Amino acid sequence: MKQFEDNPPFQYLTILMKNNIDIVLGIETSCDETSVAVLDKGTVRSNIISSQVVHKEYGGVVPELASRAHMKMIVPIMNAALEQAGVSQDDIEAVAAVYGPGLVGALLVGLNFGKSLAWSRGIPFIGVNHMEGHIYSTFLEDEKPEYPFICLTVSGGHTDLLYIKEPLHYERLGRTRDDAAGEAFDKVAKMLGIGYPGGPVIDKLALDGNPGAIQFPRSYSQADHYDFSFSGLKTSVLYYLRDRKLLAGSGSPVAQSPELNDICASFQEAVVDTLMEKTRRAVTQHGVKHVAVAGGVSANSRLREAFRKMAAMDNITVYFPPPEYCTDNAAMAAYAGWLRLNKGETSPLSLAAVPNLNVA
Ligand code: KG4
Ligand code: ZN
Repeated sequence: MKQFEDNPPFQYLTILMKNNIDIVLGIETSCDETSVAVLDKGTVRSNIISSQVVHKEYGGVVPELASRAHMKMIVPIMNAALEQAGVSQDDIEAVAAVYGPGLVGALLVGLNFGKSLAWSRGIPFIGVNHMEGHIYSTFLEDEKPEYPFICLTVSGGHTDLLYIKEPLHYERLGRTRDDAAGEAFDKVAKMLGIGYPGGPVIDKLALDGNPGAIQFPRSYSQADHYDFSFSGLKTSVLYYLRDRKLLAGSGSPVAQSPELNDICASFQEAVVDTLMEKTRRAVTQHGVKHVAVAGGVSANSRLREAFRKMAAMDNITVYFPPPEYCTDNAAMAAYAGWLRLNKGETSPLSLAAVPNLNVA
């Protein structure tokens, strides 16, 4: 509550705003992608993303290096986004920038850049919750989720199950109690010595593996709540590799083992089963007909296949973001910001970055 008082996220602006805001410039710098997008009435005109490769050799994001790379890239990326959209700074009617959750030094670059841009042009500014951006990335397709819907957001930092009854209102049903699903993919990939980020690599290797080869645990699958846990699964993979002397860096690393594909497929299957089981139960209990899955892990091919099968069987509709909007991007931030702006909301230029911001 204190944080809200010190740092009110939204204010209602009655004088400055014209009736409708159409052209929004979005900015995303919460982690290791510098991204700027231009949207016109919710349609993407440009979405430029610079992914920082500097972190690969460390097997995870190094916060200081992320901030420095954002500082270097934010202006060229904005210019590229304006150019691709065929607009100039004069055409931008509002600026939407992510203010949390994320790495504070990384957030500050995009947030302060966005506030300065809005102030210098005399246009409204709105701070956007990164996770709200992920939710609304599923609205960047022509076919959009219908309210009410259940939304599963699965990223490197979050695993949330939400009930969304109306626009911009969230009821949290469950969340991870330890690692996020994407984090589990990244940590298991590190144990396997197959690179960072782990999700896309495991996804690819799993295509040639047997998902039923190894029975890894499905935590909380029988529990009567909607929370998740992935740290037990991660530890199981660790013990499996250690017992067979297959850990990355050991004498016979798994990266050269014929078992690699089966391990990837079996681990991935455990994650997908757990996510699907809880989502399915939430859909039934809330009597909804629409489900959205968003965040980096929603790019996973097995997860998409499993959710599509479930949807067909249960007669519901499932929505995913277009592949390029699964991982972090500014288009999703601009879309969420556009919705809020057109409700009459703006943020004060005193808005601070909030590293642990929640949606509900
Ligand atoms: O949404 P995102 O770009 O960043 C956060 O907000 O955290 O998600 C990044 C996460 C990483 O953990 C990455 O390994 C995972 O998404 N990811 C995937 C796939 N593509 C990205 N996980 C599973 N399968 C994929 N194809
Ligand atoms: Zn994200």
